[in-house]
Amino acid sequence: MASGSPHATVRRRPVRVAVVGLGYWGPNLVRNFHELPGVVVAGVCDLSRDRIETISKRYPALRRTTRLNDVLNDPTVEAVAIATPVSTHHEIASAALEAGKHVFIEKPFAASSAESLDLIALADERRRVVMPGHTFLYSPPVNMIRDLIVSGELGDIYFISTSRVNLGLHQSDVSVVWDLGPHDFSILRYWLDETPEFVSALSRGCIIPGTPDVAFINLEFASGAIAHVEMSWLAPSKLRRTTIVGSEKMVVYDDASTEPVRIFDSGVTLRDPETFGEYRLTYRTGDILSPRIDVSEPLRLELEDFCAAIRTGSAPRSSRELGLEVVRMIEAVDGSLAQSGARVQVSTMALERA
Ligand SMILES: NC(=O)c1ccc[n+]([C@@H]2O[C@H](COP(=O)([O-])OP(=O)(O)OC[C@H]3O[C@@H](n4cnc5c(N)ncnc54)[C@H](O)[C@@H]3O)[C@@H](O)[C@H]2O)c1
Repeated sequence: MASGSPHATVRRRPVRVAVVGLGYWGPNLVRNFHELPGVVVAGVCDLSRDRIETISKRYPALRRTTRLNDVLNDPTVEAVAIATPVSTHHEIASAALEAGKHVFIEKPFAASSAESLDLIALADERRRVVMPGHTFLYSPPVNMIRDLIVSGELGDIYFISTSRVNLGLHQSDVSVVWDLGPHDFSILRYWLDETPEFVSALSRGCIIPGTPDVAFINLEFASGAIAHVEMSWLAPSKLRRTTIVGSEKMVVYDDASTEPVRIFDSGVTLRDPETFGEYRLTYRTGDILSPRIDVSEPLRLELEDFCAAIRTGSAPRSSRELGLEVVRMIEAVDGSLAQSGARVQVSTMALERA
């Protein structure tokens, strides 16, 4: 089956979706689904009664349960959106697909590439949508920068350097790389339209021994582009800043700023030597442009894309293939960390079950 194309015909009845996992992030899914036209929140589920009570105060009419099977056995629930810890993604998503539901899974897709491949195969078998939630692919600044790269306005991409740091939230079941890495890796994959060939990484578990809470990661792409990603749960202030340096222009993307994208018409030209060995450089510092950017909420756009995939069989932008590649990038980082920062090749196996 082509990615996420279980139904060929367009339909009009509402998509009935249940949200599983109501911790930090799940309530955002509930709110956005609730506000989307043509979508009904058909139920919510969490193991914790406290979490359920909290959401019930806001949405008293919601059907709620602590048992996943209540959701899976409900024939009126057509789709399940999962916002539980990463270690539970595969188990909950495969149970939902087995029960015939379409599935949206918050990033990262699953806890390994083998689990991700398994979910893709199961979705094909059941002819259901399975979509990882890589919210940044729906962010207007991220899309503006992708347009600049794809149109060639930045020229050849020399390198990208990015920092995603703040104080907290330490996760119980994953390292900072599994928590924050999916954001930067999905953005890089989306911008450059390629998965890196090699990664190398350095990390430290400063607070919980054995659980990295800071990581410095280098990525090498076949196109020649290189990237450096710094991520941490330990920093005095929140920083979400990326610099993209191209042969024609440079961009600074600051997700925490009121001017999130600034385009610098700056660069360096290397002119042919006039005499043997005498290279001449010309530096150019031109205009700085801060374009107006749409303020749509990325999560809403992403959940709309999920519902469109269910209704029309369209392939979501945050595709299962991209979700798998992001997991492979994280696995390569773990591989590098296990070998004291060695340069590790990112797996490129075709879409087959491991
Ligand atoms: N897209 C984003 O920007 C974004 C942001 C934050 C978190 N996330 C993702 O969302 C997911 C959840 O993260 P979080 O920070 O909300 O975690 P959290 O620990 O705050 O919440 C998880 C919730 O899942 C519940 N839960 C655990 N196992 C369950 C099960 N078997 N059945 C039902 N409920 C269960 C827990 O009781 C808890 O309430 C993760 O995959 C995370 O990476 C995405």
